[in-house]
Amino acid sequence: MDSSKEKLLAALAPLLPELPAEQLERLVCVPSDRVKGDFALPCFVLAKARKANPAAIAQELASAVALPEGFSKAEAAGGYLNFFVDADAATSALLRKIESEGAAYGSSPANGKTVVIDYSSPNVGKQLAFHHLRSTMIGNALLRCYRAAGWNAVGINHLGDWGTQFGKLIVMARRSGLPLDDESLKAFTLAKLNAMYVDFGRQAKEHPEMEEEARAAFAAMEAGSPEELRLWKAFRATTLAELEELYEMLNVKFDVYTGESFFNDKTGAVVELLKSKGLLSESQERQVVALDDEGMPPCLILKGDGSTLYATRDLAAALYRHETYNFDRCLYVVDNGQSLHFRQVFTVLKKLGCGWAEGCRHIPFGLILQQDAEGKWSKGSSKQGNSNSLREVMDAAAAKILATIDEKNPSLPDKENVARKIGVGALVFDDLKNRRLIDVKFNWEQALSFDGDTGPYVQNAHVRLCSIQRKAGRRVASSEVRWEKLSDANSQRLVHKLGELPERVVEVTRDHEPSALAQYCLELAAESHRFIHDNRVLGDEAETERLFLVQCAQTALRNALELLGVAAVEQM
Ligand code: ARG
Repeated sequence: MDSSKEKLLAALAPLLPELPAEQLERLVCVPSDRVKGDFALPCFVLAKARKANPAAIAQELASAVALPEGFSKAEAAGGYLNFFVDADAATSALLRKIESEGAAYGSSPANGKTVVIDYSSPNVGKQLAFHHLRSTMIGNALLRCYRAAGWNAVGINHLGDWGTQFGKLIVMARRSGLPLDDESLKAFTLAKLNAMYVDFGRQAKEHPEMEEEARAAFAAMEAGSPEELRLWKAFRATTLAELEELYEMLNVKFDVYTGESFFNDKTGAVVELLKSKGLLSESQERQVVALDDEGMPPCLILKGDGSTLYATRDLAAALYRHETYNFDRCLYVVDNGQSLHFRQVFTVLKKLGCGWAEGCRHIPFGLILQQDAEGKWSKGSSKQGNSNSLREVMDAAAAKILATIDEKNPSLPDKENVARKIGVGALVFDDLKNRRLIDVKFNWEQALSFDGDTGPYVQNAHVRLCSIQRKAGRRVASSEVRWEKLSDANSQRLVHKLGELPERVVEVTRDHEPSALAQYCLELAAESHRFIHDNRVLGDEAETERLFLVQCAQTALRNALELLGVAAVEQM
């Protein structure tokens, strides 16, 4: 919480014994129009108990309250009691904080809590499609915000690197007639694996026995058969190498890659545990946990041939994560289509008596929809072979931005790199600016435009803040600043916006909505553009002060973008 609000609550509490602390905290708000005050206490809820009208109560409190340090006055206005902070003192405290914290501004002190975030987690053998960007970037932004908000945060890539789909790839490799020695296996690139997976679907329609072969190949993997495992390892390595290149481009780093195969030797214990608690029953030859008491279909644990399923491995993973990290929260950033799966897994954990499962949460999100040639919006799927690969989309975005730079500023140094940062950043921003459950209709023109609610619009504000500093050719220190020169309403609007960052970051960890921070970037960019437009900085009598404010705004905007996972550029 803002420290001036804390001081104000402490001053008000003794005068309002009828209000519990949390209620008072919720009641004291920041008026949207700061001319009315920096904080306001609406007195309406007090009227009944005090048998007086709200305006009279506000009057009485205004004269009774002892103004805390840093406040200049309290004023009753209708049913509201408005408080004004001493603007110079508040501005100086905030901007000096930004100066001293620098890249860490926006962060809060460590809180000793741990969160585990499972994100990206794509399936091996399939190209990372454009829609995988969502889990990757929402998870990445959550991880960064949790760390900044003082949590110990562990980022996990729960790779889909185990399951019947590997049986399918093995069947296709064998049927291809190609040599399968270690050297030849290198020719099975990710694009090829992806195509094999698609072809399996087509061919198995005519040759249903292939499904059986695939199941058998996977059962052999689970039984530890060296030949099947050798093929699996090669396919997994190919995917991982390509994934890592993409993650590098997106500047996404995982603490661990404990994918589904990691739990192969840990599922036996889960099955035993379920058995010992009497939770397993047989249904259509499979071992399941019945969940009809919760109005859900059964959670599948073992197939008829004894092989495990997605849920079995997720149960093992949850138990392992709890044991390893002793987390307060464990988040699963996975598309909305898997809601039932996670409800089932969490319910089974609760049936096992794991109270900590209360901290497990599915963080669902909607789809990225793309328009086909006929104008129809759809998700695209790797099974049908029509999902856009993420790499192609990123390359195309960078190329489009480069074309704009070539037209407007052809001599820009390192322009390929700048174009990539802006292009990729634009895609990421476009994805994060919407509330996560909304299906995003992806539109090139819109995402890459420099006007409107876009990444390039925010980058442009950052570039302008940088360019003023470059032209000034000096850095201002807070000790040079005459604070009263920043007390005008125009400067104060920008100052207030800068002060919101730490609270907005904490908000992301409360609602798991990175969009709140993306919206903050847009608001701060708009205030920065406005400030620069309305005020002369260089050569003005208040140059030193305005330059200092520009420096602080740039720091806050860069930090906010980076917490979203977007790299800020300094020139374009
Ligand atoms: N591999 C899965 C998919 O691509 C997502 C895994 C999410 N994480 C988990 N623990 N189930 O659909």
